[in-house]
Amino acid sequence: MAFEISPLTPLFGAEIEGLDLGRPLDGETVREIRQAWLDHLVLVFHGQKLDDEQLLAFAGQFGPIGGSKRYPTTMVISNVIEDGKPIGVLGNGEAAWHVDLSFQEKPPMWTVLHGQEVPPKGGDTWFTDMYAAYDTLPGDLKGAADRHGCKHDGTYNSAGELRGGYEDVSDVTEAPGATHSLVCRHPEIGRSFLYLGRRRNAYVEGLDVEESETLLDRLWSHACGREDAIYRHKWRAGDVVMWDNQGTMHRRDSFDDAHRRVMIRTTVQSAAPITA
Ligand code: OGA
Ligand code: MN
Repeated sequence: MAFEISPLTPLFGAEIEGLDLGRPLDGETVREIRQAWLDHLVLVFHGQKLDDEQLLAFAGQFGPIGGSKRYPTTMVISNVIEDGKPIGVLGNGEAAWHVDLSFQEKPPMWTVLHGQEVPPKGGDTWFTDMYAAYDTLPGDLKGAADRHGCKHDGTYNSAGELRGGYEDVSDVTEAPGATHSLVCRHPEIGRSFLYLGRRRNAYVEGLDVEESETLLDRLWSHACGREDAIYRHKWRAGDVVMWDNQGTMHRRDSFDDAHRRVMIRTTVQSAAPITA
């Protein structure tokens, strides 16, 4: 199946044209998309129309479907309220920079997000390249990051909502979640990336809380302060955006709650774990 790839920024991100993701792809096309994913970190497809089953069938061609206890396969990201109940999570507010599900011991390698209904403006999703963030760390910060692990809090999602089954914590050393090295290596790409996960309730193991906060503030301001390493996605209905959920972080702008935004998401595990 023929398709065209065009880069979205000089550093990362690519748009792919010419494929209908709602139909089964041949093995060669799956291999080529997978390679493009490894090369470009974020892939964008326009004009798709997938239901849950089709999204799962598409994503499942790249590896086993992952998820959380609450949403083992697909989940809805939406501000829409039906019969007094939200149909999804994250509402219409800003979502802070994060990696999906990094509080898990084996976080998903990839995320696939499909915009079914999007507002006319706002709700852009921003991505930043954490391989580049690591490569450009000043020496002292690189040294500190190389030596430590960080605990990734599972209590809150990126919109600041308490996750089901969790309680608020006041001491970050007690926040529930997995510890991962601050610097990890992608098993296939073979490059190191800075693995921050999310800022809230993060804790660098082995440091005083104050030292941990100082180190995290410096790492976060380096990682999120680099305009050259950002791709900002303005959604059109029908877009599928899939990202390297280890080596990139993402955030979302708020949008006007008078408009509907309905997205479906799934995640893909990798057979090979990330390593320090
Ligand atoms: C997600 C997420 C942002 C958005 O699906 O993991 O962070 O733009 N979504 O909806
Ligand atoms: Mn997310």
